[in-house]
Amino acid sequence: MSDSPSVAHVPSKCRIAPSILSADFADLAAAIDVVAGETELLHVDVMDGHFVPNLTIGPPVVSAIDRHTDLTLDCHLMMTNPGDFLQDFREAGADWVSVHVEVGATAELMAEMRRLGLRAGLALNPETPFEAIEPWLGELDHVLVMTVHPGFGGQAFMDEVVPKVGRIADEIARHGYRAVVEVDGGIDEATISTAAGAGATVFVAGSAVFNRADPAGAVRELRARADAVLGAP
Ligand code: DX5
Ligand code: ZN
Repeated sequence: MSDSPSVAHVPSKCRIAPSILSADFADLAAAIDVVAGETELLHVDVMDGHFVPNLTIGPPVVSAIDRHTDLTLDCHLMMTNPGDFLQDFREAGADWVSVHVEVGATAELMAEMRRLGLRAGLALNPETPFEAIEPWLGELDHVLVMTVHPGFGGQAFMDEVVPKVGRIADEIARHGYRAVVEVDGGIDEATISTAAGAGATVFVAGSAVFNRADPAGAVRELRARADAVLGAP
């Protein structure tokens, strides 16, 4: 468990969270090492084959990653029953956790994330309205707004979600809440500016990092594009 606030040598208002979904699962350590100097957050996509039509990894792999790196682990639980595993993910080294609001039992899940000392996030699918998360907005550390249908990397950014990103960011600012807005899906050198313009400050990027010849350079470029919109720190 670690939670470094920023990359020491990179003053920036934004955080780029490379998603290991697009990395080589047979060589995760090397993939993580390539981006570790350029970011502080690593996005870990947990898929259960039920909430989404794909299967990935669980607590044992999170634990192995945590032993390998000091990066803050941002675990996105695309699971029907995240409550059964929150303690396991906490013990494995998860720092930030997002559960999907669509699975229900949100009050119980929020309480459990708090009890475990996790940074608590709610994720919402593209078609899920702002009102689904509104009751919890003041208690959240982050809101994970899906800008693709969850389940797979490499999909196209859904522009139609941008107004919802803006609405969430505006409501957080209006109330003075602490939550940050994180966007996930289809973030690349072009779409990151749109998401930043709507108020996102945390950007998950899988294929636009790990499918590039120079993943570290790709993170730097994404950060530069976001900072150009967000302004100097
Ligand atoms: C999709 C995952 C994303 C995925 C993003 O369900 O939640 O985190 O890794 O991949 P890209 O950046 O390729 O859209
Ligand atoms: Zn994700």
